[in-house]
Amino acid sequence: MNKYRVGILGATGMVGQRFIQLLENHPQFEVAAVAASDRSQGKTYGAACSWRLTGEMPTAVRSLPVQPPAPPLDCDLVFSSLPGDIARDVEGNFAKAGYPVISNSSAFRMDEDVPLLIPEVNHQHLDLLARQRQRNTSGGFIVTNPNCSTIMLALTLAPLHARFGVSAVAATTLQALSGAGYPGVASLDILDNVIPHINGEEEKMETETRKILGRFVNDHIEPASMAVSAQCHRVNVADGHMAAVRLNFTRKPEVGEISEALSSFRSLPQELGLYSAPANPIVVRAELDRPQPKLDRDAGNGMTVTVGKLREDAVLDYRFVTLSHNTIRGAAGAAILNAELLVALGHLQTG
Ligand SMILES: NC(=O)c1ccc[n+]([C@@H]2O[C@H](COP(=O)([O-])OP(=O)(O)OC[C@H]3O[C@@H](n4cnc5c(N)ncnc54)[C@H](OP(=O)(O)O)[C@@H]3O)[C@@H](O)[C@H]2O)c1
Repeated sequence: MNKYRVGILGATGMVGQRFIQLLENHPQFEVAAVAASDRSQGKTYGAACSWRLTGEMPTAVRSLPVQPPAPPLDCDLVFSSLPGDIARDVEGNFAKAGYPVISNSSAFRMDEDVPLLIPEVNHQHLDLLARQRQRNTSGGFIVTNPNCSTIMLALTLAPLHARFGVSAVAATTLQALSGAGYPGVASLDILDNVIPHINGEEEKMETETRKILGRFVNDHIEPASMAVSAQCHRVNVADGHMAAVRLNFTRKPEVGEISEALSSFRSLPQELGLYSAPANPIVVRAELDRPQPKLDRDAGNGMTVTVGKLREDAVLDYRFVTLSHNTIRGAAGAAILNAELLVALGHLQTG
């Protein structure tokens, strides 16, 4: 099979580097073009990118020229990890020019005709693409993945909501530094410190979760009716976002039922054997001191969400702690899994 040739917008950033790393030996996609800001344009990727991941920068991308993030780019689809404020124009231009855009940024996530996709949770929302095609005759379209904290929350809630009905959820996050991009938070601000503010994050978790867990009815998404409350904190951890979650159910299950619903959760990506799909989307740990970012963020090659500390709660019905890798399941890995699902369902063509 010919590989799909992909362009990466924002290729030099934290998420862009994860795309480059995860795509190095991918069986379906190869990196054909990279784009970034005018600080990087005109240089080779090797010269422009301050590589911040363990392991070497893949050889194949070193000599690629960094281009402006504007069509035309010589590729079949684009992955975007651009800052939200510029992504709206840039991603919109690519979609209008006929490119499939698989985006990490927040720019289009809440648009009515844009799927906010977690393949295990709401693959039915891809039916929104028919609406995008009506307004966008070029053949281009936009599919987004959720905010990095929202993904692990919504993925954890999905099997519980399906079986027992979740009526309310309160999540308190502890979010890693790589979530702020590179160079991110100044070291003197975060050493010996916790910052109880991440711009726009609480609102994103509250609105995106309800869209993801919503139902596709006729031609639109009806958001889930549960109340969602989020408090977000930046902590001094390199990778791996964590959330302490409390929740109420419509029908309160036994603790064993919750654990079983989480551990046994499998969905379309596992059935289809998608390359980046973890065998277990959710792992439940029994140890008193898990999950921990250092020990659990790489579960399932960074695509598995780890849940622990599942207990009855004195205020709401239950509580637990959930954790996932923010630049893999929370960003680049999520977008690549979205693209793999689009291939499997016939939404992508090679050029
Ligand atoms: N980090 C995470 O865990 C995470 C998770 C989920 C979603 N996201 C989202 O993913 C996006 C990227 O995040 P990041 O953490 O990778 O940020 P980052 O490390 O700051 O990288 C930003 C990238 O965008 C490029 N860029 C910045 N301004 C630009 C401009 N005016 N024109 C063209 N390119 C420009 C940068 O290029 P230069 O190197 O040339 O400046 C760089 O490649 C954001 O929308 C973020 O919200 C991040």
